[in-house]
Amino acid sequence: MLTMKDIVREGHESLRIKADQVELPASEEDKTLLTKMLQFIKNSQDEEMIEKYNLRSGVGLAAPQLGISKRMMAVHFTDHHERTYSYGLFNPRIISHSVEETYLPGGEGCLSVDRDVPGIVPRYARITVKATTLEGEEVKLRLKGYAAVVFQHEIDHLNGVMFYDHIDENDPMTPPENAVSVDDL
Ligand code: NI
Repeated sequence: MLTMKDIVREGHESLRIKADQVELPASEEDKTLLTKMLQFIKNSQDEEMIEKYNLRSGVGLAAPQLGISKRMMAVHFTDHHERTYSYGLFNPRIISHSVEETYLPGGEGCLSVDRDVPGIVPRYARITVKATTLEGEEVKLRLKGYAAVVFQHEIDHLNGVMFYDHIDENDPMTPPENAVSVDDL
């Protein structure tokens, strides 16, 4: 199983390069890795596992965060509409997005960043993502608000982008004019 020692931190080059497409159908090796990534995220939300393995809680993980430069991501969370998103995805891509923006009022965090970086991270309020699941199924996901933010954070990792790259350094705490909080979506 994966633990925090498998997570690479800021400064590691795999967090700053564009990851490679995964050849599909996925190899057993890639499927095993993605299954472990999803399990890690689930474990990171389980009190007993957190204590036993000293895990930090997260809702998503991208392969570059393991030092593996491949387009793979896992998410596991429930949004405030009580909708659960639990996916291991190969080659996720945003095929369309809203003009309207959104943000988490408390800012974002990342398992690869061991410090608080305060500031508003503007994201698209709505996105449509295409990807291939662990089971080999092509899916098209329409996401808004919190779910859209999580997916954009993870897809950014596949492109060498960190969440704080989006923070306006001159005015970090003011949301853009066309942005609404995820709580209002
Ligand atoms: Ni992250």
